[in-house]
Amino acid sequence: MENERGSWSSNIGFLLAAIGSAVGLGNIWGFPYKMGANGGFAFLLVYVIMAIMVGFVIMVSEIAIGRKTGKGIIEAYREYSKGSTWIGYLGLIIPVIIMFFYSVLGAYCIEYIAVNLCNLGFNTVSASGADLFTAMLTNPVGSIVYTFIFLAGCYAIVKSGISGGIEKFNKVGMPALFVMLMVVIIRSVTLPGATEGLKFMFVPNFTYLGENFIKVLSVASGQMFFSLSLAMGIMVTFGSYLSKKESIVQNAGIIAFSDTLVAILAGVAVLPAAFALGGEDAAMSGPKLLFITLQDVFGAMGSVVGPLFGVCFYTLVLIAAITSAISLTEVAATAYEDNCNKKGKTPHRTRATFIVCLIIFAGGAIVAADGLGSNGLWVPFQKTFGINGWNDCWLDFFDFISEGVLMPFVALVTSILVGWIKKPSSIFEEVETEGNKFTGYGLFKFCIKFFVPVATIFILIGQIDTFFQLGIF
Ligand code: PFF
Repeated sequence: MENERGSWSSNIGFLLAAIGSAVGLGNIWGFPYKMGANGGFAFLLVYVIMAIMVGFVIMVSEIAIGRKTGKGIIEAYREYSKGSTWIGYLGLIIPVIIMFFYSVLGAYCIEYIAVNLCNLGFNTVSASGADLFTAMLTNPVGSIVYTFIFLAGCYAIVKSGISGGIEKFNKVGMPALFVMLMVVIIRSVTLPGATEGLKFMFVPNFTYLGENFIKVLSVASGQMFFSLSLAMGIMVTFGSYLSKKESIVQNAGIIAFSDTLVAILAGVAVLPAAFALGGEDAAMSGPKLLFITLQDVFGAMGSVVGPLFGVCFYTLVLIAAITSAISLTEVAATAYEDNCNKKGKTPHRTRATFIVCLIIFAGGAIVAADGLGSNGLWVPFQKTFGINGWNDCWLDFFDFISEGVLMPFVALVTSILVGWIKKPSSIFEEVETEGNKFTGYGLFKFCIKFFVPVATIFILIGQIDTFFQLGIF
């Protein structure tokens, strides 16, 4: 991306940036554990339906709004429809909240790389995944230091602009991650007892869904917004640099498909192994799943090959995390710069990035010190307000605010804006410029006007209901 208004040098540049932003910890860490805890196959089904009928529709709208206006998030909404600038501002808060916990998860990846490196050279750490993870969670200082290192890396990349290094990074890192996932999948599904995990993922079973429909719907949908990097201006911004020649529908299809594929592959890498190594309870163990199960899979690979795979795998996950994290940091840093411009002050990219990273570090330090609830930092909150949250921890709280409430809410207001105020034809015109065809426009129209608003209202109520344990459904 250039500072001057231009366009991507090629469509591939756009796709790589968008896929780089979409594919991240949401796919590899979030998807498998949420699928494990929410009924397996039925969760997958709901996820895919929501990705097509809500995610894809919002993505097409966001890219089209970006390309139509040629502006970043705030100005794009201002120009698309007077009076909707506040949606842009709202979208800006989300990346900062996400980064509060994303940076900590990135930090855990760095710690795992370090541990596997130690094992590779000196075989010093022979603990199980569970012991290792507990030791890490209960060491707040270590987690804060690694969070700092992760953010320092993001700072260094974002302050000097995202072109060049990071694009090259993506070009090699993403295919490498894909290959590595395949290798891990082969190991995972050939472990004795792994077939139970595969059945859980792919054999239709709707008992859980029947009893928890709204919960599954809201968890799968929140995850989908998060994973596709929607409802927070990323796709608007990327779309603003897209050439009019390119097909928005095709591009959105490729991004949504690749992202979903990586999430399912991560599920196949993690869940069968979890069943093989610890049974169904292990598969349902929540946010700790990735860090425990896969470390055990590597542990079962022998003392040289195991750590070697561990180092490669967590490095690739870290790359995926960084490419997503920089797009999150970039949104906030760009907004800060825009604000300076508007006030007539000279924008200092370095300073802007520094301030954003500092704010993120303040929130990240709380999540890191809490250690997924292991160190009890959530307890006072729980006692004062009687809120248990999903897993009694700060990570869940920030996850709830961002993907649980703000993302579905921004999607809801976007659908009202596009479907009812500006009308779907405003998107149709943009998609069909320069001879492109809007395949499936009828479905798009139905979804943006009716399906997305209704679904997002249920998602919002469902998220609030499960987080506060209100028992509405
Ligand atoms: N999509 C990323 C993931 O799945 O890890 C996270 C993310 C990046 C969310 C960028 C939102 C975003 F704008």
